[in-house]
Amino acid sequence: MDTIIEPFRIKVVEPIRMSTRDEREACIREAQFNLFHLHADDVLIDLLTDSGTGAMSGEQWAGIMRGDESYAGSPSYDRFRDQMRAMTGFDGILPTHQGRASERILFELLGGDGLVVPNNAHFDTTRANVEHSGARAVDLRIPEAADPTDRHPFKGNMDVAALERLIDEVGADRIPVVMCTVTNNSGGGQPVSLANLRAIREVCDRHGLRFFLDACRFAENAWFIKPREPGQSERSVREIVREMFDLADGATISAKKDGIVHIGGVLLLRDPELLHRASDALILTEGYVTYGGLAGRDLEAMAQGFEEVLHEDYLAYRIRSIAYLGERLLGHGVPILEPPGGHAIYIDAAAFCPRIPAEKFPGQALAVGLYRLAGIRACEIGSVMFGGEGHAAPPMELVRLAIPRRVYTQSHIDYVVEACAELHATRSELRGLRIVEAPQVLRHFSARFVED
Ligand code: F0G
Repeated sequence: MDTIIEPFRIKVVEPIRMSTRDEREACIREAQFNLFHLHADDVLIDLLTDSGTGAMSGEQWAGIMRGDESYAGSPSYDRFRDQMRAMTGFDGILPTHQGRASERILFELLGGDGLVVPNNAHFDTTRANVEHSGARAVDLRIPEAADPTDRHPFKGNMDVAALERLIDEVGADRIPVVMCTVTNNSGGGQPVSLANLRAIREVCDRHGLRFFLDACRFAENAWFIKPREPGQSERSVREIVREMFDLADGATISAKKDGIVHIGGVLLLRDPELLHRASDALILTEGYVTYGGLAGRDLEAMAQGFEEVLHEDYLAYRIRSIAYLGERLLGHGVPILEPPGGHAIYIDAAAFCPRIPAEKFPGQALAVGLYRLAGIRACEIGSVMFGGEGHAAPPMELVRLAIPRRVYTQSHIDYVVEACAELHATRSELRGLRIVEAPQVLRHFSARFVED
């Protein structure tokens, strides 16, 4: 059989409140055209993020009941640690409440004024944490990543020659860590090849540099490697995942993605001295080393989620369902970032609304239009998220349709396709926006807009 089915049945359902276009018009105005300000009850299909929005399995909920809430030495921590150790090979395993807590601790230890942190593509919180420490965050995408229609199989790869040039230019002593984000969220959820990770490792070894993964979506990355990278098709996802982690000195992980939990994060470290300092920092603000800002039950859910995400029938369904959305949108002439990524489809808003210039936020205009038309909440990843004073213009204007794990069925996705196709047919009616109020840092969360 060729049809790839959802490899689960639905045991519990959460009703969606239907809304009218007039109701949504009032809601988006009330939210001052910022979709983060909408009430979730006023959203029909929520594609704002795939983070913390997945459906947990019966086994994960059973883990919630099993959770042991001892302050220290909880057996729930042991289960979490054993799962992480078996999967990654790391011994230094710290739980945190989410990915950015791992980032905050890492850059508190490694960041600082005058330092430079290269990454294939920093996500917003990673960039903000690097910059908060005083360091400079540099994105080193391969040139193919700048072309939305280029179908490079590993479009998330880092430009390794550019990394070498950066090291020559600023000096290895000013680079506390080289990071690589798998899959690269802000560049389209595109995978990074093992060959690229090995090449980064080799450069880091030659210059005595640390190499860390931002491994939020490591399993989706590994699933892309299996069919696309020469010599990998016979290996299991587990083996590929293990090699990815073996190449790194550490990793920050948000378990809200490939851990399929509602809250949780991990900081992996090989260097005992760094682990010691990170443990102290963890205790100071997150919690003791065996719970790190989480409840014991959350550790149980994470241990089980990190096991389930490696199941190949799950990954086949997951990646195929994202590709289905992407291919159907392309079929309707909707411009997307190609090829479809791991956790989301990114609409190319610059191509979708060519008459709205970057300073009037075409991505935001598109996201607002999609909500008005169909109650779908998407996320701008463009000049709102990455622009502003002191920031270079982002390479692309994108609107991300992030797909929560195991939550929406094919008919939900068909509805999204129909809505995007209709919006595209009427795109000349979309209006640009102006920011009337925004903070300096991470402004997309709270900026307020008016229509131009
Ligand atoms: N790194 C990447 C690549 C991410 O995508 C995220 C979160 C983080 C780090 C931070 O993790 O949210 O647990 O603190 N991305 C979410 C998203 C928010 O919508 O893509 P966190």
